[in-house]
Amino acid sequence: MALEPHTFLSTLIKRAGFTDEDKALLKSQADWGLQAAPDMADHFYAYLGRDEEMSRILNDGNERTHRLRETFVEWFHEMFTGMDNWSDAYANRRWKIGLVHVRIGIGPQHVVPAMATVVHEVGKRLKNDGKSEELKDALGRICMIDLAFIEQAYIEVSSAAVLQETGWSEALFRRLIATGAKTM
Ligand code: HEM
Repeated sequence: MALEPHTFLSTLIKRAGFTDEDKALLKSQADWGLQAAPDMADHFYAYLGRDEEMSRILNDGNERTHRLRETFVEWFHEMFTGMDNWSDAYANRRWKIGLVHVRIGIGPQHVVPAMATVVHEVGKRLKNDGKSEELKDALGRICMIDLAFIEQAYIEVSSAAVLQETGWSEALFRRLIATGAKTM
């Protein structure tokens, strides 16, 4: 069941319809992305701070918010540069981001609305700055790819932990899930 980040990224690129034109467009706007990133970070952490549960996670007394603002800016900018043209380095980085969130116990219920906030706020900023619909669409696609990484990490880590702890085969585990879903 172990996920291979590069293969997973290729699948998602195809599935999301993230094209070479999208990549070129994002790269051409990388400076704009870097310039907009601190503003996006402000909106993002204000949003997380308004939620009691997420605010508690953020304010752990270890300067987390400060550290996170820096990593958020890097993450946002990397969506424009693609790091290594959306290849191994990009895939490994996104996989690692997913794993960090699983470790802290941040699940789909937290991450999906948080990414929706990014998409919404970046949409407003793009409009204000007179940027194209094509750029907005390309950003939307790469945001969904990044989101899928964080979500999939949650599933992969949970499944691997159950398999390791119980010694069950993957087939048995899948059958149990399917049976469980039928009874809910
Ligand atoms: C759009 C969704 C999100 C993105 C793109 C994102 C981005 C990131 C990045 C880039 C890192 C650094 C990973 C590393 O250290 O390698 C990180 C860590 C972290 N994120 Fe998120 N995040 C998202 C959602 C959330 C949510 C919903 C929470 C809820 C509170 C959260 C809380 C944290 C925390 C606590 C850390 C670890 C900070 C530390 O102690 O170093 N993130 N995130």
